[in-house]
Amino acid sequence: MQTQAAAASFRLGVLGSGKGSNFAAIADACAAGRVPAQPVLVLSDVENAGILELARQRGIPAEYLPPGKFRTKLDEETEARYIARLQEARVDLVVLAGFMRILKGPFLKAFEGRVVNIHPSLLPAFPGLEAWKQALEYGVKVTGCTVHFVDQGVDTGPVIGQRVVPVLDEDTPASLHARIQVAERELYPACIAAIARGQLRREGRRVLGFPPAL
Ligand code: GAR
Repeated sequence: MQTQAAAASFRLGVLGSGKGSNFAAIADACAAGRVPAQPVLVLSDVENAGILELARQRGIPAEYLPPGKFRTKLDEETEARYIARLQEARVDLVVLAGFMRILKGPFLKAFEGRVVNIHPSLLPAFPGLEAWKQALEYGVKVTGCTVHFVDQGVDTGPVIGQRVVPVLDEDTPASLHARIQVAERELYPACIAAIARGQLRREGRRVLGFPPAL
């Protein structure tokens, strides 16, 4: 059992490009004491991203860091700025919450084993963009979401936890994504709580100690 003070000292740096529903679920679970951690910094590569507004509403420092010249990744100089801000904020875990750029070697080296991501499919199925649309078009009957450690590949890192979501005959891409996002908002805080409590252990690619539902 950790004390309240020790629990709150596990510091999260959150990166996002979108509306921020995962971030809000994590921040609210921390504030309610269900996750023994605190978000200390939110960074976005999108100037008007909803995630920045949701962070400011909660009194959490939130910054737009311009992404640089590339479309799908950060250039070297920009990546160094992201690393510096997260290190200054003394984050214990980097939480990717809808961050739509690939992070490369220097970033992963700076936070080795301490970067997690949520992906809207049951990996290794449907990595990459618009995974809910890929699942619908493929015709699978179940899909879901995956929280995983980030490695050098795209959506290839060791799986921490997954939730299954049905695909219904009448689904559209939007309705399926909305159902997956309900599962995401439950899964991601639960996985972060397990990490903050030191409950997980690694055996090769396997991450053991899958968290129970909050
Ligand atoms: C989430 O569904 C997340 O799984 C997805 O972006 C959405 C962000 O929503 N991430 C990816 O597709 C990463 N490849 P949010 O801004 O409301 O949390």
